[in-house]
Amino acid sequence: MNIREVQDEILRLKKENDVCILAHSYQTHDIIEIADFTGDSFVLSKLAAQVPNKTVLMCGVRFMAETVKILSPQKKVILSSPTAGCPMAEQMDKAFIQRMREQYPDYTVVAYINTTAELKTVCDVCVTSSSAVQIVKAIENKNILFVPDCNLGAYVAAQIPEKNIKLLKGGCPVHAAVTKEEALTAKKLHPNALLLVHPECIPEVSALADYVGSTSGIMNYAKNSDNKEFIIGTENSIAHHLQYECPDKKFYLLSQGLICENMKSTSLIDVLNCLKGEGGEEIFMDDKLISDARKCIDKMIAMG
Ligand code: 13P
Ligand code: SF4
Repeated sequence: MNIREVQDEILRLKKENDVCILAHSYQTHDIIEIADFTGDSFVLSKLAAQVPNKTVLMCGVRFMAETVKILSPQKKVILSSPTAGCPMAEQMDKAFIQRMREQYPDYTVVAYINTTAELKTVCDVCVTSSSAVQIVKAIENKNILFVPDCNLGAYVAAQIPEKNIKLLKGGCPVHAAVTKEEALTAKKLHPNALLLVHPECIPEVSALADYVGSTSGIMNYAKNSDNKEFIIGTENSIAHHLQYECPDKKFYLLSQGLICENMKSTSLIDVLNCLKGEGGEEIFMDDKLISDARKCIDKMIAMG
């Protein structure tokens, strides 16, 4: 079978079995083409509660599939690759956050959505990279404990200096590995290009950027800009997708290392196998975990 035949078979099976395919923008182009919806974490979590299908296949990482299950417990939710975790989501556990809450009782605990369902049960509100500033701004409490990503947290803190934001040492190993030197070198190599970065990058890299935003934010900025060249400071697939969508513009990688192996552990054949019932992993969560974790996701959707 060639790629086109595999895609046609996927389209046939998902229609036959009433499956909605949600794909995070870090998936490869062949998967993006057959997905019903693609986008950043915020877009996908809102869609999770809205799509009418009986089954949702999440092509992304585990916390994204968990979010779908939490918001639509009656649906069958399948994660396309059982090994696709997000290392950041595993960095802090529930017991650690409970200890932090005891240590900082007058802080509102804000959790990046890149966390486990268990951790969400002890947090007050969730945020995504595209909703974090807006939501933290709207929280009445001045004192915020932001977990787990200290780089996104530092970016949010810089936008809202009136808040007292406490950060802990966590973050995305892929984005946090990009150095200031790489950013300076890329800007020197492409002096006419705008640098667009994800807020999971370290503050020294974000400080050099012309725009800082979520994966969808970066894509929209590049598409709508009159500029013709861009250095893309997030997972390298975003530069590839943009190059397909905007053939008259040029997209350069900020770093060859910006590859999320977890996001890339799903192949087109995995998607086909999931639809045949032969692959992926169905997400099961008990009712209490779902209702406890749901509170801070519902709050995010209401506030975002
Ligand atoms: P977005 O919220 O921008 O989709 O980011 C998710 C993510 O995992 C980035 O590394
Ligand atoms: Fe997690 Fe980073 Fe991969 Fe995003 S890029 S899924 S934060 S490891």
